[in-house]
Formats: sequence, C-alpha cells, structure tokens
Amino acid sequence: MEGDPRGRVYPGTVSDRTAAKKRRQRAPLPKASWPTRDEARASRLFSPLRVGAFETRTRTWVPAMVPWRATKEGFVTPEVLEWYGRFADGRPGVLVVEATGIRDVPSGPLLRIGDDRFLPGLRELVRTVQERSQGQTRLLIQVIDFLAIRRRPEREAYLRRFLRVREGHFEALAGRASADRLPSTEEELRAALVGLDDDSLREVLDEREWEDLTRGYRERVTDLHLPHVRALPRVLPGLFARAAGRAREAGFDGVELHYAHAYTMASFLSRLNRRDDGYGGSPEERVRLPREVFEEVRREVGSDFTVGCRFLGHEAISGGSEADEAAFFGETFARAGMDFLSVSKGGKFEDAKAPRVGRAIYPYTGPSGLECMPTVHLDLRGPIARNLPLSAHIRRRVRSAGFETPVVGCGGINSFSVAESALQYGECDLVAAARQSLADPDWFLKMELGRGEEVRRCIYTNYCEGLDQKHVEVTCQLWDRDFSDGEDATLRKSRDGKRRLEPPRWSHDDAP
Ligand SMILES: Cc1cc2nc3c(=O)[nH]c(=O)nc-3n(C[C@H](O)[C@H](O)[C@H](O)COP(=O)(O)O)c2cc1C
Ligand code: SF4
Repeated sequence: MEGDPRGRVYPGTVSDRTAAKKRRQRAPLPKASWPTRDEARASRLFSPLRVGAFETRTRTWVPAMVPWRATKEGFVTPEVLEWYGRFADGRPGVLVVEATGIRDVPSGPLLRIGDDRFLPGLRELVRTVQERSQGQTRLLIQVIDFLAIRRRPEREAYLRRFLRVREGHFEALAGRASADRLPSTEEELRAALVGLDDDSLREVLDEREWEDLTRGYRERVTDLHLPHVRALPRVLPGLFARAAGRAREAGFDGVELHYAHAYTMASFLSRLNRRDDGYGGSPEERVRLPREVFEEVRREVGSDFTVGCRFLGHEAISGGSEADEAAFFGETFARAGMDFLSVSKGGKFEDAKAPRVGRAIYPYTGPSGLECMPTVHLDLRGPIARNLPLSAHIRRRVRSAGFETPVVGCGGINSFSVAESALQYGECDLVAAARQSLADPDWFLKMELGRGEEVRRCIYTNYCEGLDQKHVEVTCQLWDRDFSDGEDATLRKSRDGKRRLEPPRWSHDDAP
C-alpha cells in the first residue's frame, strides 16, 4: 500500500510518484452486479453440498487466515474468539481456522493443537462459531507442521559464532590469500572471513552457508543428515493424527491438512524434494508421506469426520511442481478417500525476498508469494479468479478418475458473478474468498439476502498481508480506522491503539 494505510498520498513526495506509477500498472477491478434475493436463492453458490461427514448449507468458504491474535503460547484469546465470531456472523458455509501447529513446541502467537491443554480454548472457539452463525457454518481447523527457521544473523555474529568451520574454508582461503597471511586456527580463519568483502566471502562459503548468512538458516525436508528430518515420515503421521483427534474432541466439523505453501508437507510434494529414502524423487514417492499422514488421520478420527487437505495447484517457482503433478496428487488424495481438496498456489521460501538482519524470511514476498495472494499491481491480468484454472484442472482429473470429491477454488473472488460462474463452469465445487471476507465478513450473507450493493469490496493491495508479514494483528485498510459506528469505547484495538481489530457490525433482521 502506498502512502499512509488509508491510501492517501501527498503531492510531490516519493510515495506520490510511486503511487502514480503503480496506479498506471493497476489491473482494473470489474464492477460487480449483485443478485436479488430470489436469484441468490436459485443460485449454485447458495445451494447445499455434502463434504464428507457434513452437509454445508451453501458453497461459500472462508479459507485459513492467520490473524496473529493467539497468546505466544498458542492459546485461544478473546481476540481469537471475536475474529472467528465475526466471520461466523456472515454465515459462510465453511469457515477454516488458521494454520494451527501440531507439535508441542513454542511457535509465537500462532494457535496450537499439539497437546490436550489447548482443548478448552478450542472448544470455546467451536461454541462461539456455532452460536454466532446460528449453527449454519461448518467449522474446520487447518493443521500444520513446519521446520525450523531462524532470523537473518548479523554478518559478524554469523562468521564468528554460527558458521561451522570446515577444511574447505581453509582451502578456499589458501587459494585466495598470500601464504604468509593464511590462518592456521579456527579463530584466525573466522577473523579472516570477517575481513573479506562480500564478493570474496561468497567464493569461500558454499551456497547453503551463503544463504544462511543472507537469508537466515532454514531446514529443508532434504536435510537427511539431521536425524529429526530423516525421521519425519515416521513421526508426522502420528502427530497429525493426534492433532486431528483433538480437533474432533473439541467439536470441530473436520480438519484441513495443510499441504500447501512453504511448509513441511508441501515440501514433500515439491519437485525440489529429492530425498532418497522412498519419500522423494518421483511424484509417487513425493505424495507417499502426505498419503500416509492422511491414512493415519483417518484411522484416528474414523470415517464420520471430514478430512481434506489444502495443497498447491502450482508451486510457481523455478523447478517446482506444476499443474499436471498437482492433478496427479489430487487424484491420489481422492482415491485415498479425502473428503475435499482445497487448491492454492505458490507462497514459497525459495523465491522470497531476503529479510532484513534480525528478521525471518517470509514466504509471501517473492513472485510465488504474489501468486498466492495476488494484487492489482501484479500485472494487467490482476487477481480476479486468477487461480481458478488450477482448481479446474485438478477437478477435471479427479472427475475423470471417477471421484466426486469436492474441490475448493480460491484466489481473487470478490463478486457474485465470478463465484457463481466458477461453479457453473465446473472450475470448483466450493468458492473460497480470504481477503474479500476480511474486507467484509458479511459479504456472503449480504449477497444471499439480496443486499449485495452493501458489500465492502476488497481492492487487493495487500495492506493486510503486510501486517501478517510483520506478525502484527491483521486488519483491513477499508475499516480499521473507521470509528464512525460509535463503538470506540468498547472496541479492541491494535497494540499502538490506532487500529480497530474488529470490522464494523452490519445489522439486518432477515434470516437466510
Ligand atoms: C493475512 C492472511 C493470512 C493467511 N493465512 C493463511 C493460512 O494460515 N493458511 C493458508 O492456507 N492460507 C493462508 N492465507 C492465504 C489465503 O487463505 C488465500 O489462499 C489467499 O489470500 C488467496 O485468496 P484471496 O484472493 O481470496 O485472498 C492467508 C492470507 C492472508 C491475507
Ligand atoms: S482485505 Fe482489505 S487490506 Fe487486504 S487486500 Fe483486501 S482491501 Fe486490502
């Protein structure tokens, strides 16, 4: 977002010029036409669908979005309850709770489900959504595993403390420096490295060490020299299964296994996964662990609990998996008995921007991140319905293999016509909208009641994603400084007190 968060820019300033440049590049957002109440009633979008063990009242879906509102130990807070309660007010058919960690390890203010002590808070979350949606929204929780990642270190701290010195460093330096200045001890070598300029240092460090220095250390599923990474195929099925069991115990309607974006399971599916232990290499080997995880989850929760996954229709990185492999994965998951397939795109570490020193790399800052949460500045094609060809491709493959597994499409859906035509043309069976639902959590209900003109439409400039990147409470620029509803005194606000954390209320008397 240019200028201040309200979109204002000041004449003659750098942000004014940048904003003008960007305005020229901005993809147009089509005008919306909205259905009458009768048209909505007759639409596919507002018709029911069976998704495994439950029937959803409509084909509307709010996908997972991390709002940064949990405690730093991963517990549900009043702010978490309000966040999901507010989405439930708009009565989507399905609401998916943010990526929730399956391990019992500290992971900052992200929800966790890796131990029974998290159950009371999660139960309350389920109760809140049931009450606020009047029992009309089915609630899933997205369960995630991720590997270690560290902040980008100071150059000197890295070279003096973190770098593991090896013979190759001495040899590389010997190839560069004159013999009388060659270091003979580890300490001298570290001091010599500190004294090198970046170009010379790059020649001495190997690719991975250079990356650790300039992007921060990040584990990969291919780090088979690390015992805990080698053990992932043995450990993860049980961890996911126990997390899913807890979700069932807490009263959720189902779980979404997070197999997308930059995290462990997506890395197993990735074409970059060249593990040589039967869990990497060919598409069959790469899909093996995700399939085994699902099978263990199914054993744990039984067949009367909805289990599906979110995975990538395209990794959108160089050398990554593409649409045909994704279609094969989709068919494999359908054959294994998954209850839904939710399709996303990109969001990888490999092409993310290097973080500033002291910050961790964030997987939505590079080209693949922009494909995951496309903006109007991306190109002239813009964000609208951008990723639906991927869900369409996967759905075709799943159907031609004889499975009716519902497919969830997502990416730039912010109007009735786009949502309804995606369903009519078989691009997906359920329509997911993340940022549009953040911009206006009542938008599905407004359409259903024939009051679409009142929808606050997302403008896809990713102010919200910028907050996510900074790990501060996510809000929307279209409402977070609007205090005109007179609720100021009772409103929860961001830590700096400037932003409201809850979208303004919308009043209506009608029941759908
Ligand atoms: C603030 C924010 C947090 C997100 N967190 C998650 C997440 O936890 N899990 C996930 O699968 N996707 C996450 N996403 C991606 C969205 O679910 C969605 O795929 C993406 O925003 C594209 O859909 P849209 O165009 O409707 O916004 C997040 C998106 C945003 C904006
Ligand atoms: S949800 Fe709000 S902040 Fe995010 S892209 Fe849409 S309009 Fe911008």
